[in-house]
Amino acid sequence: MRVLMIGAPGAGKGTQAVRIADRFGVTHISSGDLLRKHVAEQTAIGRQIQQHLAAGDLVPDGIVLDLLRKPIVAASAAGGYVLDGFPRTVQQAMAAYPVAVELGVAVQVVVHLAVPQVELERRLVERGADSGRSDDNLEVIRYRLKVYDAHTLPMLDYYAGREQLITVDGAMGVDEVSEAVIAALEGVPGLVADG
Ligand code: AP5
Repeated sequence: MRVLMIGAPGAGKGTQAVRIADRFGVTHISSGDLLRKHVAEQTAIGRQIQQHLAAGDLVPDGIVLDLLRKPIVAASAAGGYVLDGFPRTVQQAMAAYPVAVELGVAVQVVVHLAVPQVELERRLVERGADSGRSDDNLEVIRYRLKVYDAHTLPMLDYYAGREQLITVDGAMGVDEVSEAVIAALEGVPGLVADG
């Protein structure tokens, strides 16, 4: 099965993606984790993107698309993926779609975690106390939330018109959100059996 998570910074995409991947035996792919790994390892890509990450800005599409192609294809061959953080704009989704269809790795279901802004800020400020993430401070958190509203939210309309879009209340406790997401995925005809 091939699932995409959409949600604002702090909505719980990473937290839930790990649980979904574990439950269904598929691979969790996080664009943010991959990008942060490059920065931590000071690779050539890492040096190009660290300012974008620290500022809460989107990394250029070409870099993200190149970085994700291989892991997405490999995960699809191994049973599927839960993709967290990509695509993040309608432009990225439109660029990836024809390639993904040709390779037989296109997203089947999109899960949107809806969480009020005040709770998003609370979670990220709390995490910022010990996450070591360069973008977990209040000023950059607020900027990331603006970037999400401007660039990522429009993807909901884009996906509502094509793949199955499931919206879950992400403000519940972690376990309740997991239960709701897993139940919703199990209810999608053919998805789980699809492998
Ligand atoms: P990315 O790593 O994707 O970060 P993000 O979208 O800002 O999301 P977060 O990781 O902060 O939150 P999350 O929704 O995963 O929540 P989490 O589970 O961690 O992207 C970072 C940067 O990389 C971007 O700003 C951009 O620069 C770049 N980038 C990434 N993808 C890109 C792309 N495609 N194109 C261009 N640039 C890209 O949870 C957050 C906290 O809340 C945790 O402490 C968690 O324990 C807690 N929590 C989770 N769920 C709950 C709950 N239900 N109740 C209480 N607490 C909870």
